[in-house]
Amino acid sequence: MRRVAGLVTGFLLPMLAFSEPLAKKEKKAEPMETHVVTIKGKPVTFTMQQVISAEKIQERVKELGKTLSEKFTGKQPVVIGVLSGSSIFHSDLVRAMNIPVEVDFVRVSSYHGTESSGKVKSALGVKSDLKGRHIIMVEDIVDTGRTMDFLITHFKTYQPASITIVSLLTKPTKLLPEYKNTVFVDYIGFKIPPDFVVGFGLDLDGYFRNLPDIKIVKTIDGKSV
Ligand code: IMP
Repeated sequence: MRRVAGLVTGFLLPMLAFSEPLAKKEKKAEPMETHVVTIKGKPVTFTMQQVISAEKIQERVKELGKTLSEKFTGKQPVVIGVLSGSSIFHSDLVRAMNIPVEVDFVRVSSYHGTESSGKVKSALGVKSDLKGRHIIMVEDIVDTGRTMDFLITHFKTYQPASITIVSLLTKPTKLLPEYKNTVFVDYIGFKIPPDFVVGFGLDLDGYFRNLPDIKIVKTIDGKSV
């Protein structure tokens, strides 16, 4: 009995006292920022709020780097970043890998401003010989799945040994039904709701790629962009 009382007063009570303010602290909403950006020659005001901190991103990137290094030991994969959105994630990810990898990039034109044009035109820029190689494709975000579906079809024509998809973010509720059986993201950094986000490579008309964290962007009247 005395041992139980000792456990409660000596260990559990201090834990409760400690965890309570921490739990409250975690729930506290991140501050809202306001930014004015010139889009198509006109100033537009946006509000932004952090949804994933820089620390959490770095932690996840390290985990992904370790997992990929273990999976591809002895296989010398080609790690292809999809420009421009994945450039920052890609460069941190390859540096979190401790095996020999080849680094390459592909550019796809599909988006203008914040809306999909609905057409993925072409994939440009890959320098490596991909036949028989293990490809790791690195994306910033898989949204509707259209870009990734196009890239998977495109890279299969090179007859690689395997294609592995890594995406920092996915918006599962936005994946179009026609891609549910073709677009499978093997490694996901974070799953997010269908809001428009910027930071860590993701942009709003070319801006905010340099933010170290991920932020939701809304127009000043609270609408999603
Ligand atoms: P998907 O083809 O619809 O899957 O879209 C893929 C591309 O859309 C990504 O590589 C991004 O460039 C862009 N995109 C989709 N959602 C967002 C977002 O929330 N912020 C910034 N870019 C986005």
